[in-house]
Amino acid sequence: MDIKKYLKDKRELVDTFLTPYFDSLASPSVLKSAMSYSILAGGKRVRPILALASYEACGGTAEDIVPFASALELIHTYSLIHDDLPAMDNDDLRRGKPTSHKVFGEGMAVLAGDALLTEAFYLLSLQSLARVSVGRPALIRLIRDVAMAAGAYGMVGGQAEDILCENKTANGEDLAFIHAHKTGALITASVRMGGILANAGRKEFRALTRYGENIGLAFQIIDDILDVSGNTSELGKSTGSDERKKKLTFPAVYGIGPAARKAEGLVHEGIGALEDFSEKADPLKQIALYILRRRN
Ligand code: IPE
Ligand code: IPE
Ligand code: MG
Ligand code: MG
Ligand code: MG
Repeated sequence: MDIKKYLKDKRELVDTFLTPYFDSLASPSVLKSAMSYSILAGGKRVRPILALASYEACGGTAEDIVPFASALELIHTYSLIHDDLPAMDNDDLRRGKPTSHKVFGEGMAVLAGDALLTEAFYLLSLQSLARVSVGRPALIRLIRDVAMAAGAYGMVGGQAEDILCENKTANGEDLAFIHAHKTGALITASVRMGGILANAGRKEFRALTRYGENIGLAFQIIDDILDVSGNTSELGKSTGSDERKKKLTFPAVYGIGPAARKAEGLVHEGIGALEDFSEKADPLKQIALYILRRRN
């Protein structure tokens, strides 16, 4: 299969939903501009695409669940806006553009993030936009799973530890916790979303979770490596940010070579988790390999 084409097609599917959704948002104009600015700035749309691919792996049709999958991108984009704030990583460039607080000021950037996070759960609760009817228990399970992954037990918990570990001496245990939570949790929830919406069986669901955890950690290891050895124009964000903030990262603790080998091992472990799936899981397997090769 042509994974480049697959990713492009699915990205377009997500963007075709997000663009009119944000154009028609009823909210005060500056806040709406700030929300749209970040969400429509581009981005790879990896999390929604994972949800779509996982739904397909379980026999579903991607087009049917685009609004649910897109909600993940709202949460992710909010996390990026807040992550870039001066109080956190203090970065000026995101998705090839000045960061939200550089354009709208810190107060509005905080609020745009707050609004995107809230909007995501509103969107998840809307049955009417999706093409499938999801039973109430599945919808509640979905919302709970995403909430756990986004909040204190997941992404926000990881981000808190990320800040607390700045300037700390190398510690593999803290590092594993930070990465599994700040990035792994939402990526795993994205993969699990496809399983929940497709009513996957217990065994399938466990396999999807194992796949998500492995590629989620690999995703952040590659992000750390790109922060050292990538280039700003390809990445759309500044390199050297982690070194500047003395972050606990895989390259800092283990070196670039071992970090890259660790990511490779995780990706293969993730692919291995899908061994009992049909060829419908090929896109998920290819996405795992793409995560390893990516340049941005
Ligand atoms: C960047 O995420 C932040 C991390 C969790 C590593 P992405 O690499 O998915 O960024 P976009 O969405 O493509 O901009
Ligand atoms: C951030 O990790 C993970 C998030 C939850 C946003 P990073 O701080 O390394 O992400 P980038 O490199 O700024 O995109
Ligand atoms: Mg950060
Ligand atoms: Mg950052
Ligand atoms: Mg980074």
